[in-house]
Amino acid sequence: DWTTGNIVEEQVEKIRAQVGDGRAICGLSGGVDSAVAAALVQRAIGDQLTCVFVNHGLLREGEAEQVEKDFVAATGAKLYIADEQERFLTALAGVTDPETKRKIIGREFIRAFETAEAEIVKASANAGEPVKFLVQGTLYPDVVESGGGEGAANIKSHHNVGGLPEDLQFELVEPLRTLFKDEVRAVGAELGLPAEIVQRQPFPGPGLGIRIIGEVTEDRLNTLRRADAIARAELTAAGLDNEVWQMPVVLLADVRSVGVQGDGRTYGHPIVLRPVSSEDAMTADWSRLPYDLLARISNRITNEVDGVNRVALDVTSKPPGTIEWE
Ligand code: XMP
Repeated sequence: DWTTGNIVEEQVEKIRAQVGDGRAICGLSGGVDSAVAAALVQRAIGDQLTCVFVNHGLLREGEAEQVEKDFVAATGAKLYIADEQERFLTALAGVTDPETKRKIIGREFIRAFETAEAEIVKASANAGEPVKFLVQGTLYPDVVESGGGEGAANIKSHHNVGGLPEDLQFELVEPLRTLFKDEVRAVGAELGLPAEIVQRQPFPGPGLGIRIIGEVTEDRLNTLRRADAIARAELTAAGLDNEVWQMPVVLLADVRSVGVQGDGRTYGHPIVLRPVSSEDAMTADWSRLPYDLLARISNRITNEVDGVNRVALDVTSKPPGTIEWE
Protein backbone atom coordinates (compact mmCIF):
# COMPACT_ATOMS: atom_id res chain seq x y z
CA ASP A 1 0.00 0.00 0.00
CA TRP A 2 0.89 3.59 -0.62
CA THR A 3 2.19 5.06 2.61
CA THR A 4 4.86 7.71 2.86
CA GLY A 5 7.14 5.23 4.63
CA ASN A 6 6.83 2.85 1.70
CA ILE A 7 7.66 5.56 -0.79
CA VAL A 8 10.82 6.36 1.14
CA GLU A 9 11.90 2.72 1.38
CA GLU A 10 11.22 2.05 -2.28
CA GLN A 11 13.09 5.13 -3.45
CA VAL A 12 16.05 4.41 -1.17
CA GLU A 13 16.39 0.96 -2.77
CA LYS A 14 16.13 2.42 -6.27
CA ILE A 15 18.73 5.10 -5.58
CA ARG A 16 21.17 2.53 -4.16
CA ALA A 17 20.69 0.34 -7.22
CA GLN A 18 21.29 3.25 -9.59
CA VAL A 19 24.23 4.91 -7.87
CA GLY A 20 26.12 1.89 -6.52
CA ASP A 21 29.32 3.22 -4.97
CA GLY A 22 29.43 6.28 -7.27
CA ARG A 23 29.45 9.89 -6.21
CA ALA A 24 26.58 12.31 -6.49
CA ILE A 25 25.97 16.02 -6.07
CA CYS A 26 22.77 17.92 -5.52
CA GLY A 27 22.18 21.65 -5.82
CA LEU A 28 20.07 23.03 -2.99
CA SER A 29 18.01 26.09 -3.85
CA GLY A 30 16.28 26.55 -0.52
CA GLY A 31 13.11 25.18 -2.07
CA VAL A 32 11.11 22.12 -1.05
CA ASP A 33 11.87 19.87 -4.00
CA SER A 34 15.65 20.01 -3.97
CA ALA A 35 15.71 19.66 -0.17
CA VAL A 36 13.53 16.55 -0.16
CA ALA A 37 15.37 14.97 -3.11
CA ALA A 38 18.69 15.57 -1.35
CA ALA A 39 17.41 14.20 1.96
CA LEU A 40 16.18 11.06 0.23
CA VAL A 41 19.46 10.48 -1.58
CA GLN A 42 21.35 11.19 1.64
CA ARG A 43 19.27 8.50 3.37
CA ALA A 44 20.19 6.09 0.57
CA ILE A 45 23.90 6.70 -0.02
CA GLY A 46 25.12 8.87 2.88
CA ASP A 47 28.46 10.54 2.30
CA GLN A 48 28.64 9.56 -1.35
CA LEU A 49 26.40 12.61 -1.75
CA THR A 50 27.63 16.19 -1.52
CA CYS A 51 25.03 18.95 -1.49
CA VAL A 52 25.94 22.27 -3.05
CA PHE A 53 24.35 25.52 -1.98
CA VAL A 54 25.15 28.50 -4.14
CA ASN A 55 24.24 31.53 -2.06
CA HIS A 56 23.50 34.15 -4.71
CA GLY A 57 22.51 36.75 -2.15
CA LEU A 58 19.00 37.02 -3.61
CA LEU A 59 17.31 34.95 -0.92
CA ARG A 60 14.88 36.16 1.68
CA GLU A 61 15.65 36.67 5.35
CA GLY A 62 16.54 33.41 7.08
CA GLU A 63 16.59 31.25 3.96
CA ALA A 64 20.34 30.78 3.67
CA GLU A 65 20.40 29.82 7.35
CA GLN A 66 17.62 27.29 6.75
CA VAL A 67 19.82 25.53 4.22
CA GLU A 68 23.12 25.97 6.04
CA LYS A 69 21.89 24.96 9.50
CA ASP A 70 18.42 23.40 9.58
CA PHE A 71 18.82 21.21 6.51
CA VAL A 72 22.20 19.92 7.63
CA ALA A 73 20.96 19.36 11.18
CA ALA A 74 17.97 17.38 9.95
CA THR A 75 19.78 15.22 7.39
CA GLY A 76 23.46 15.09 8.34
CA ALA A 77 24.25 15.75 4.69
CA LYS A 78 27.66 16.97 3.56
CA LEU A 79 27.15 20.54 2.39
CA TYR A 80 29.43 22.66 0.23
CA ILE A 81 28.52 26.33 0.55
CA ALA A 82 29.55 28.64 -2.26
CA ASP A 83 29.22 32.20 -1.01
CA GLU A 84 28.80 33.97 -4.32
CA GLN A 85 26.95 37.14 -3.36
CA GLU A 86 29.64 39.39 -4.82
CA ARG A 87 29.68 37.53 -8.11
CA PHE A 88 25.94 37.99 -8.60
CA LEU A 89 25.85 41.64 -7.48
CA THR A 90 28.68 42.47 -9.84
CA ALA A 91 27.07 40.64 -12.75
CA LEU A 92 23.73 42.35 -12.13
CA ALA A 93 25.12 45.87 -11.78
CA GLY A 94 23.31 48.30 -14.07
CA VAL A 95 20.84 45.69 -15.35
CA THR A 96 17.12 46.50 -15.30
CA ASP A 97 15.57 44.30 -17.99
CA PRO A 98 13.77 41.28 -16.41
CA GLU A 99 14.79 38.67 -18.97
CA THR A 100 18.37 39.89 -18.93
CA LYS A 101 18.37 39.56 -15.15
CA ARG A 102 17.11 35.97 -15.41
CA LYS A 103 19.73 35.08 -18.02
CA ILE A 104 22.54 36.57 -15.97
CA ILE A 105 21.44 34.86 -12.78
CA GLY A 106 21.09 31.54 -14.59
CA ARG A 107 24.49 31.87 -16.25
CA GLU A 108 26.30 32.85 -13.06
CA PHE A 109 24.55 30.06 -11.20
CA ILE A 110 25.92 27.49 -13.63
CA ARG A 111 29.43 28.94 -13.40
CA ALA A 112 29.28 28.93 -9.62
CA PHE A 113 27.99 25.36 -9.59
CA GLU A 114 30.76 24.17 -11.91
CA THR A 115 33.39 25.87 -9.77
CA ALA A 116 31.92 24.21 -6.69
CA GLU A 117 31.93 20.80 -8.35
CA ALA A 118 35.59 21.19 -9.33
CA GLU A 119 36.44 22.13 -5.72
CA ILE A 120 34.56 19.13 -4.37
CA VAL A 121 36.38 16.74 -6.69
CA LYS A 122 39.74 18.29 -5.80
CA ALA A 123 39.12 18.17 -2.06
CA SER A 124 37.82 14.62 -1.85
CA ALA A 125 39.80 11.68 -0.48
CA ASN A 126 39.75 9.95 -3.84
CA ALA A 127 40.63 13.17 -5.63
CA GLY A 128 40.17 13.14 -9.37
CA GLU A 129 37.32 10.66 -9.34
CA PRO A 130 34.57 12.55 -11.12
CA VAL A 131 31.10 13.08 -9.79
CA LYS A 132 28.89 10.91 -11.92
CA PHE A 133 25.40 11.61 -10.64
CA LEU A 134 23.35 14.77 -10.38
CA VAL A 135 20.33 14.72 -8.09
CA GLN A 136 17.37 16.78 -9.27
CA GLY A 137 14.09 17.46 -7.52
CA THR A 138 11.99 16.89 -10.63
CA LEU A 139 8.34 16.22 -9.74
CA TYR A 140 5.70 14.37 -11.69
CA PRO A 141 4.08 17.58 -12.98
CA ASP A 142 7.49 18.73 -14.27
CA VAL A 143 7.87 15.44 -16.15
CA VAL A 144 4.46 15.82 -17.73
CA GLU A 145 5.08 19.47 -18.57
CA SER A 146 8.25 18.67 -20.46
CA GLY A 147 6.64 15.91 -22.49
CA GLY A 148 7.72 12.99 -20.33
CA GLY A 149 10.82 12.35 -22.46
CA GLU A 150 14.07 11.09 -21.01
CA GLY A 151 17.22 13.03 -20.34
CA ALA A 152 18.10 16.63 -20.76
CA ALA A 153 14.61 17.78 -21.70
CA ASN A 154 13.52 16.96 -18.18
CA ILE A 155 16.03 19.16 -16.50
CA LYS A 156 14.03 21.96 -14.99
CA SER A 157 15.74 24.55 -17.08
CA HIS A 158 12.65 26.30 -18.35
CA HIS A 159 12.89 29.01 -15.81
CA ASN A 160 14.41 27.48 -12.76
CA VAL A 161 17.79 28.81 -11.77
CA GLY A 162 18.55 25.34 -10.39
CA GLY A 163 18.30 23.96 -13.92
CA LEU A 164 21.66 22.96 -15.27
CA PRO A 165 22.81 22.92 -18.88
CA GLU A 166 22.72 19.85 -21.06
CA ASP A 167 26.47 19.77 -21.57
CA LEU A 168 27.18 19.10 -17.90
CA GLN A 169 27.91 15.40 -18.13
CA PHE A 170 25.94 13.82 -15.32
CA GLU A 171 23.58 10.96 -15.01
CA LEU A 172 20.40 12.22 -13.39
CA VAL A 173 18.96 10.86 -10.17
CA GLU A 174 15.36 11.99 -9.83
CA PRO A 175 13.73 10.27 -6.87
CA LEU A 176 10.62 12.50 -6.89
CA ARG A 177 9.68 11.87 -10.52
CA THR A 178 6.50 9.99 -9.67
CA LEU A 179 5.33 12.30 -6.90
CA PHE A 180 3.07 15.32 -6.56
CA LYS A 181 3.90 18.29 -4.39
CA ASP A 182 1.82 17.18 -1.39
CA GLU A 183 3.47 13.74 -1.46
CA VAL A 184 6.88 15.41 -1.64
CA ARG A 185 6.05 17.44 1.46
CA ALA A 186 4.95 14.26 3.24
CA VAL A 187 8.18 12.49 2.28
CA GLY A 188 10.18 15.49 3.53
CA ALA A 189 8.37 15.40 6.86
CA GLU A 190 8.94 11.62 7.10
CA LEU A 191 12.66 12.25 6.56
CA GLY A 192 12.67 14.72 9.45
CA LEU A 193 12.94 17.98 7.52
CA PRO A 194 11.58 20.95 9.49
CA ALA A 195 8.21 22.47 8.62
CA GLU A 196 9.86 25.74 7.54
CA ILE A 197 11.44 23.82 4.68
CA VAL A 198 8.72 21.36 3.67
CA GLN A 199 5.82 23.80 3.95
CA ARG A 200 7.54 26.58 2.06
CA GLN A 201 5.57 28.45 -0.54
CA PRO A 202 6.95 28.63 -4.08
CA PHE A 203 9.76 31.12 -4.56
CA PRO A 204 11.36 31.85 -7.92
CA GLY A 205 14.91 30.67 -8.58
CA PRO A 206 16.12 34.20 -9.44
CA GLY A 207 14.78 35.20 -6.05
CA LEU A 208 14.59 38.81 -4.97
CA GLY A 209 16.50 39.71 -8.14
CA ILE A 210 13.18 39.80 -10.02
CA ARG A 211 11.27 41.45 -7.17
CA ILE A 212 13.30 44.64 -7.29
CA ILE A 213 11.89 46.64 -10.18
CA GLY A 214 15.01 48.37 -11.40
CA GLU A 215 18.67 47.69 -10.78
CA VAL A 216 19.55 45.15 -8.07
CA THR A 217 21.87 46.59 -5.43
CA GLU A 218 22.86 45.45 -1.97
CA ASP A 219 20.95 48.32 -0.29
CA ARG A 220 17.81 47.58 -2.23
CA LEU A 221 18.07 43.89 -1.41
CA ASN A 222 18.33 44.74 2.28
CA THR A 223 15.30 47.01 2.06
CA LEU A 224 13.20 44.39 0.28
CA ARG A 225 14.36 41.62 2.62
CA ARG A 226 13.14 43.57 5.65
CA ALA A 227 9.78 44.40 4.10
CA ASP A 228 9.30 40.81 2.93
CA ALA A 229 10.17 39.41 6.36
CA ILE A 230 7.54 41.63 7.99
CA ALA A 231 4.85 40.71 5.46
CA ARG A 232 5.56 37.00 5.82
CA ALA A 233 5.67 37.12 9.61
CA GLU A 234 2.30 38.89 9.78
CA LEU A 235 0.71 36.50 7.30
CA THR A 236 1.93 33.57 9.38
CA ALA A 237 0.80 35.19 12.64
CA ALA A 238 -2.66 35.64 11.14
CA GLY A 239 -2.73 31.90 10.41
CA LEU A 240 -3.24 32.49 6.71
CA ASP A 241 -0.20 30.74 5.19
CA ASN A 242 -2.43 28.05 3.75
CA GLU A 243 -4.91 30.52 2.28
CA VAL A 244 -2.40 32.06 -0.08
CA TRP A 245 -0.41 30.27 -2.76
CA GLN A 246 2.41 32.77 -2.42
CA MET A 247 2.82 36.45 -1.63
CA PRO A 248 5.54 38.20 -3.57
CA VAL A 249 6.66 41.45 -1.97
CA VAL A 250 7.99 43.83 -4.59
CA LEU A 251 10.17 46.93 -4.29
CA LEU A 252 9.53 49.65 -6.87
CA ALA A 253 13.08 50.83 -6.67
CA ASP A 254 12.85 53.32 -9.52
CA VAL A 255 9.63 54.95 -8.29
CA ARG A 256 9.52 57.54 -5.53
CA SER A 257 6.58 59.25 -3.97
CA VAL A 258 6.15 62.02 -1.44
CA GLY A 259 5.11 61.18 2.09
CA VAL A 260 5.07 62.71 5.52
CA GLN A 261 6.49 61.22 8.67
CA GLY A 262 6.97 62.91 12.03
CA ASP A 263 7.39 66.54 11.08
CA GLY A 264 9.22 65.88 7.87
CA ARG A 265 8.50 65.28 4.26
CA THR A 266 9.76 61.98 2.87
CA TYR A 267 10.51 60.96 -0.69
CA GLY A 268 10.64 57.19 -0.60
CA HIS A 269 9.89 53.99 -2.48
CA PRO A 270 6.65 51.98 -2.61
CA ILE A 271 6.40 48.33 -1.64
CA VAL A 272 3.77 46.26 -3.43
CA LEU A 273 2.10 43.24 -1.82
CA ARG A 274 1.07 40.56 -4.29
CA PRO A 275 -0.80 37.82 -2.37
CA VAL A 276 -2.40 35.31 -4.75
CA SER A 277 -4.47 32.17 -4.51
CA SER A 278 -3.85 29.51 -7.14
CA GLU A 279 -3.91 25.78 -7.83
CA ASP A 280 -0.86 25.52 -10.06
CA ALA A 281 0.43 29.08 -10.75
CA MET A 282 -0.89 28.91 -14.32
CA THR A 283 -3.82 31.09 -13.33
CA ALA A 284 -4.28 32.99 -10.09
CA ASP A 285 -6.60 35.35 -8.31
CA TRP A 286 -5.59 38.04 -5.86
CA SER A 287 -6.17 36.97 -2.28
CA ARG A 288 -8.82 38.82 -0.32
CA LEU A 289 -6.68 39.27 2.79
CA PRO A 290 -8.40 40.82 5.82
CA TYR A 291 -8.10 44.61 5.98
CA ASP A 292 -6.72 44.56 9.52
CA LEU A 293 -3.90 42.26 8.42
CA LEU A 294 -3.11 44.52 5.47
CA ALA A 295 -3.14 47.51 7.82
CA ARG A 296 -0.69 45.81 10.20
CA ILE A 297 1.67 44.93 7.38
CA SER A 298 1.49 48.45 5.96
CA ASN A 299 2.05 50.14 9.34
CA ARG A 300 4.97 47.94 10.21
CA ILE A 301 6.70 48.25 6.84
CA THR A 302 6.41 52.04 6.69
CA ASN A 303 7.52 52.37 10.32
CA GLU A 304 10.31 49.81 10.32
CA VAL A 305 11.84 49.87 6.85
CA ASP A 306 13.99 52.88 6.01
CA GLY A 307 13.31 54.41 2.64
CA VAL A 308 9.81 52.94 2.22
CA ASN A 309 6.91 55.35 2.75
CA ARG A 310 4.03 53.64 0.94
CA VAL A 311 2.55 50.13 0.68
CA ALA A 312 0.31 49.18 -2.25
CA LEU A 313 -1.83 46.09 -2.83
CA ASP A 314 -1.90 44.40 -6.25
CA VAL A 315 -5.51 43.46 -7.10
CA THR A 316 -4.86 41.94 -10.53
CA SER A 317 -5.71 38.36 -11.41
CA LYS A 318 -3.53 36.15 -13.64
CA PRO A 319 -4.19 36.61 -16.50
CA PRO A 320 -3.70 39.42 -17.34
CA GLY A 321 -1.05 39.96 -14.65
CA THR A 322 1.63 37.39 -13.92
CA ILE A 323 2.25 36.45 -10.30
CA GLU A 324 5.70 38.03 -10.28
CA TRP A 325 6.19 41.61 -11.44
CA GLU A 326 9.15 40.72 -13.66
P1 XMP B 1 4.49 34.06 -13.10
O1 XMP B 1 5.12 35.32 -12.62
O2 XMP B 1 4.98 33.64 -14.44
O3 XMP B 1 4.96 32.94 -12.08
O4 XMP B 1 2.98 34.10 -13.01
C1 XMP B 1 4.42 31.62 -12.04
C2 XMP B 1 5.16 30.86 -10.96
O5 XMP B 1 6.52 30.66 -11.34
C3 XMP B 1 7.39 31.31 -10.43
N1 XMP B 1 8.45 31.94 -11.23
C4 XMP B 1 9.68 31.45 -11.36
N2 XMP B 1 10.25 30.34 -10.83
N3 XMP B 1 12.27 30.89 -11.93
C5 XMP B 1 11.55 30.09 -11.12
O6 XMP B 1 12.10 29.11 -10.62
C6 XMP B 1 11.75 32.00 -12.52
O7 XMP B 1 12.42 32.71 -13.27
C7 XMP B 1 10.38 32.29 -12.20
N4 XMP B 1 9.53 33.28 -12.60
C8 XMP B 1 8.36 33.05 -11.98
C9 XMP B 1 6.53 32.31 -9.67
O8 XMP B 1 7.06 32.60 -8.38
C10 XMP B 1 5.22 31.59 -9.62
O9 XMP B 1 5.19 30.61 -8.59
